[in-house]
Amino acid sequence: MSKILVIGAGGQLGQCLKVVAERRGITEIVFPAEQDANILNESALNDLLAKEQPGFVINCAAYTAVDKAEDEVDLAKAINETGAAYLASACLANSATLIHVSTDFVFEGNEVKLLKENDEAKPINVYGLTKLDGEKAVTSILPTHFIIRTSWLYSEYANNFVKTMLKLGAERDELNIIADQVGTPTYAIDLANTIFEVIASSSTAYGIYHYSNEGVTSWFDFAKAIFDISETVVKVNPIPGSAYPTKATRPAFSVMDKTKIKETFNLEIPYWRDSLVDCIKQINK
Ligand SMILES: NC(=O)c1ccc[n+]([C@@H]2O[C@H](COP(=O)([O-])OP(=O)(O)OC[C@H]3O[C@@H](n4cnc5c(N)ncnc54)[C@H](OP(=O)(O)O)[C@@H]3O)[C@@H](O)[C@H]2O)c1
Repeated sequence: MSKILVIGAGGQLGQCLKVVAERRGITEIVFPAEQDANILNESALNDLLAKEQPGFVINCAAYTAVDKAEDEVDLAKAINETGAAYLASACLANSATLIHVSTDFVFEGNEVKLLKENDEAKPINVYGLTKLDGEKAVTSILPTHFIIRTSWLYSEYANNFVKTMLKLGAERDELNIIADQVGTPTYAIDLANTIFEVIASSSTAYGIYHYSNEGVTSWFDFAKAIFDISETVVKVNPIPGSAYPTKATRPAFSVMDKTKIKETFNLEIPYWRDSLVDCIKQINK
């Protein structure tokens, strides 16, 4: 396997890639600190790629604060679009393939149907728009790219819904959770494994792919499963999204069709609840 460079290594997915690389015995992989791999510093990125000469670059760097992005439009755009463009250019100059991670939030999500890679992207918040513009930048600059859209990412690392629920469940007797937003959680360890499968395949089937765990759930049912699996006693009340207003609007139905990634890379994707069990086991270790 050729050398791999991970940008945004300190985030949730970056940390999962590190753990999974160790488990898989991948040693030709570099996880530079953010100050040495600032996606907004074009010349530093070029120098880094010229020095490391990776065959693959994995972009985990992103502006991911969905509500804050409504106020910090310029920063979100810089990191998610301009940064992605700088990285794609550096990959082009150094003959590297880019694996760029994106989101289901590029879709409007107002219809009950599985979202395919070619479906019309129509973001309904700033974060989604900047991620879509990042995808467009990568696509237009660099032919050798894999863009992997994922959804509801969680793991034992960083802040995410599972860790927030476990914290709140330990503090409170009762929680109100949105029941009318539907999607699929993704264990970031599973996504990390998939990224290494894509790399190991040596495939040149470049383009956009959808990846989440299997199955469909709501935030309410996801929370119930978290408390059930972790044996936390807490009353969970279903509420409509309208009862919990947030700065950014979120898609109501956002379930991606994963046929393309499964068929292209011969993958079996774990069911979301099985992966949640694995994650909670890791958290309790
Ligand atoms: N989390 C989700 O639910 C979710 C859902 C769908 C798709 N995604 C996508 O999945 C990918 C990974 O998400 P994640 O959950 O791992 O996000 P994350 O934990 O927020 O990680 C993002 C990382 O990017 C770093 N970063 C920010 N600005 C940077 C810059 N200028 N240069 C270099 N690094 C920079 C962040 O550092 P600081 O912490 O120092 O800012 C952080 O370490 C992202 O592309 C995200 O859009 C996430």
